[in-house]
Amino acid sequence: MDPGLDPGLFRSVFRRHAAGVAVITAAGPGGPVGFTATSLTSVAAEPPLLSFGISLGASSWPVLARADHVGVHILGDHQEELAAVFARSGADRFGPGTAWTTGPYGVPLLDAVPAWLVGRVLHRVPAGDHRIVIAQAVAADPHGPGRPLLYHQGAFHRLPH
Ligand SMILES: Cc1cc2nc3c(=O)[nH]c(=O)nc-3n(C[C@H](O)[C@H](O)[C@H](O)COP(=O)(O)O)c2cc1C
Repeated sequence: MDPGLDPGLFRSVFRRHAAGVAVITAAGPGGPVGFTATSLTSVAAEPPLLSFGISLGASSWPVLARADHVGVHILGDHQEELAAVFARSGADRFGPGTAWTTGPYGVPLLDAVPAWLVGRVLHRVPAGDHRIVIAQAVAADPHGPGRPLLYHQGAFHRLPH
């Protein structure tokens, strides 16, 4: 098999890819889980499908591997610290510093995000050391506060005003 591109070179290309920042959540038997993700993509509008990638090594994966529903949050530029907490290994992601409630289908929903969706998981597609989760949106609110938080060259950014 073709060994493909050097992983470092591959990462260098994607460091040039500016992306919106999302947090994916799910309810597990041991409590809520969640992680920061830039892999969120709108896949289809009819039916409304979204996807994101999750590492098999992610602490959220054992719950995501079984979850029926997921919470998908588009973060605002006022939520850089939240993005960092949901990316930091071992952080208390749903502790006192995180405002959240239980939303439709029992999914943990973060407060004050510009927009959120709840998705019903349809597929978990193998992709190397990740899984691509495909979900159908079943609830949403696009009317929250703020402008989008971006990630580029390994750092968070805001859109210029
Ligand atoms: C900006 C940013 C985007 C990320 N995107 C993803 C992603 O799309 N999929 C993923 O599995 N992990 C992604 N991560 C990594 C996770 O957020 C998290 O850092 C990682 O799972 C380690 O946490 P854990 O030890 O609790 O698993 C991203 C991290 C950052 C900072």
